[in-house]
Amino acid sequence: MRLSFEERKAAARWAADATWMEQEKYLDDPEYMECVRDLIDHPAVRSMEKYIQHGSTTCLAHCIQVSYLSYHICRRFGWNSREAARAGLLHDMFLYDWHTHWRETGERFHGFTHPGKALRNAQQHFVLSPEESDIILRHMWPLTPVPPRTGAGFAVVYADKLCSLTETALQVRSWFAWNFLLRKA
Ligand SMILES: [Fe+2]
Ligand SMILES: [Fe+2]
Repeated sequence: MRLSFEERKAAARWAADATWMEQEKYLDDPEYMECVRDLIDHPAVRSMEKYIQHGSTTCLAHCIQVSYLSYHICRRFGWNSREAARAGLLHDMFLYDWHTHWRETGERFHGFTHPGKALRNAQQHFVLSPEESDIILRHMWPLTPVPPRTGAGFAVVYADKLCSLTETALQVRSWFAWNFLLRKA
């Protein structure tokens, strides 16, 4: 997968634009919505809104962004954009607050175990193709050792890393602004 420098810059700029999610601009893309229509309003998917992923970004917002970016990467490379859109939307449906999970349960390896939990939760509510299951299960590669089998899987790996980094960078930026600029003003 080789996005040009300009494409990578545009993707990073898009991921950092909070208004895209706030204004639900994905609703204006009928071809994307066609891929995820049966998933996106399902109560199990909407329940990801209760949990924070990074900074102030909810798991639901994170999953929609990963889904939408993966979908467009796949269209660009001729890969299966429908599978990327669907699996991207479900890839972090682990349904707990990972910031406090280890204190409440003693489980310390969220990074390694949550893809399996997300897959089991998704399979409780939806019928997934083998490729969609593989994308969810392998999305943490290379932290988990087995890479995804398909181009769509690599698109989700890339989109997930980019969105997570952007969410963390925005969190650090607002922390810095609050502590060093605004509080001292
Ligand atoms: Fe994840
Ligand atoms: Fe993720």
